[in-house]
Amino acid sequence: MKRLETIEDLRAYRAALHDSVGVVLTMGFLHEGHVSLVTAARAENDHVLATIFVNPTQFGPHEDLSVYPRDLPRDLAMLQAAGVEAVFTPTPAMMYPPGSQTLITVAVVSQEKEGGRRPGHFQGVATVVAKFFNLIQPQRTYFGQKDAQQVAVIRRMVRDLDFPLEVRVGPIVRDINHLAMSSRNVYLSSDERQAARVLYHALQETAAAYTSGERQPDVLREIATHIIVAEPLAALDYVSLADARTLTEQTTPTDRPLLLSIAAKIGHPRLLDNILLPVALNTLEGATAVLGAE
Ligand code: PAJ
Repeated sequence: MKRLETIEDLRAYRAALHDSVGVVLTMGFLHEGHVSLVTAARAENDHVLATIFVNPTQFGPHEDLSVYPRDLPRDLAMLQAAGVEAVFTPTPAMMYPPGSQTLITVAVVSQEKEGGRRPGHFQGVATVVAKFFNLIQPQRTYFGQKDAQQVAVIRRMVRDLDFPLEVRVGPIVRDINHLAMSSRNVYLSSDERQAARVLYHALQETAAAYTSGERQPDVLREIATHIIVAEPLAALDYVSLADARTLTEQTTPTDRPLLLSIAAKIGHPRLLDNILLPVALNTLEGATAVLGAE
């Protein structure tokens, strides 16, 4: 695997690739969720590139930028084992040289949920992702359903700014306790890790009610809420039931695809999890067809 450390290295490497390129963008401290996106990219592209960059502009002033977990040697070994051909590892100074002043704002879909809790977060994400798309010029890019609102923001940006690429959406990879894998799970104590199972439990119980025919949004949200608030170590932030294509909060019964998402603090870290309804949509093809696909 080739390591590309500068923008010049990356541009030269990219210019020599003539067949299809798929890219997986990451902030490192990789896990099986990231690897699953690489595996999907390998199946669909001639060349697979990855990036590792802890993007400072998507962290709020009181967030965990300085302590965000890092392990570059391990990440490089994992990407190599997964079959990545080249990895781009720029520094913040390369991505944001002095004088940078252009930011991308995806106005509507960035506002609620994570956007409401983390002001400026999706502006930082959209801007860095646009830069990576311009630098790498992939035919396809792979994002995780885990960060569902991020998918919707990036897909809106791709359409609005005419990026000539396809966004593919990989399903959520979970550990043996069904906890959605996340680089931030290292912050969990063993008790908290047990308590964190409540997120999946709440999603499953709500999905079961949906599958049995329940369509009232308030009733479905209440099932999930009730389960989370019963867990003493969990502090619920929100339960959202939204249209999977637009992410607007659902107020009336519908048979359109829905995204049920939960954010809760378990101890220190804030955990996110979600499920698409109907449950058959929780696959690469299903999530790609509906999530953020207005
Ligand atoms: P990061 O949190 O490292 O995630 C990189 C990619 O892996 C994202 O598309 C994310 O949704 C996906 N991912 C994370 N956990 C997953 C899981 N359990 N199963 C499947 N996929 C999972 O998301 C970011 O980095 C950044 O915001 C980035 C897009 C790189 C821009 O800085």
